[in-house]
Amino acid sequence: MEQYERALVFWDENFSKAEAQEIIDWNLGSKIYQEILIHFCADKKMILDFGCGNGWASHFFAANSNANIVGIDQSMNAVKIAKETSKLNCYENTKFLVGNQTYLKTLPDDSFDAAFSNNVFDVIPTDLAETVFEQFKRILKPDAELLIVLNYELTDKRAEEIKMKKFDKNCFELDGNLRAVNYSVEDWKKILGKYFEIIKYKGFNYDWDTAKAERRIFFLKNKK
Ligand SMILES: C[S@@+](CC[C@H](N)C(=O)[O-])C[C@H]1O[C@@H](n2cnc3c(N)ncnc32)[C@H](O)[C@@H]1O
Repeated sequence: MEQYERALVFWDENFSKAEAQEIIDWNLGSKIYQEILIHFCADKKMILDFGCGNGWASHFFAANSNANIVGIDQSMNAVKIAKETSKLNCYENTKFLVGNQTYLKTLPDDSFDAAFSNNVFDVIPTDLAETVFEQFKRILKPDAELLIVLNYELTDKRAEEIKMKKFDKNCFELDGNLRAVNYSVEDWKKILGKYFEIIKYKGFNYDWDTAKAERRIFFLKNKK
């Protein structure tokens, strides 16, 4: 899908403008989300952060647990900034790699006991998301936990407000870049349920979001 190919370039250019920063104080903008992430990483040994972007979640896990964290993103600039941030903050238990679904295929079976992903599967084509879920199933241990966090469900009104245009049944673009693959919570449960056991669903809001659009967290377990 050409809109997705353009979005990959968009992400990479976006991260080229970022700078590594010293992290003084953690505030993820939602107390609920922050507590969920603290709980999620607490007892883990190997966490995969897929589509890690600048690595903020990997850094958060590094700061809040003894886990080893592997962040993977297709964007070279994202990975560069993630590595620099780890170095600046002396997080020794993180590793960042440039890669995508193809790279996941090179990882051994049962090599992670948790996977995390924030706002990735709702910006990539669904067949690609499902390829990643198949790899997650393989590289995660039996009963491994997954947290899949997705942006809010877009209504047509909201899409218009933020100037996104629908170009396919569930797909929205901005400036020609795929920016949202839009499903309801129930649709996501059906997709995710093909690969994983759904333990729980929880919505949350960011403090800064005056529209109070519900972000979505799916608590999952690997079924082998
Ligand atoms: C909306 S950003 C989210 C980044 C990060 N997870 C966060 O919460 O800030 C989507 C990320 O997914 C990455 N991405 C998109 N398709 C990918 C793929 N096939 N493999 C790996 N990363 C991908 C992009 O480069 C981008 O960093």
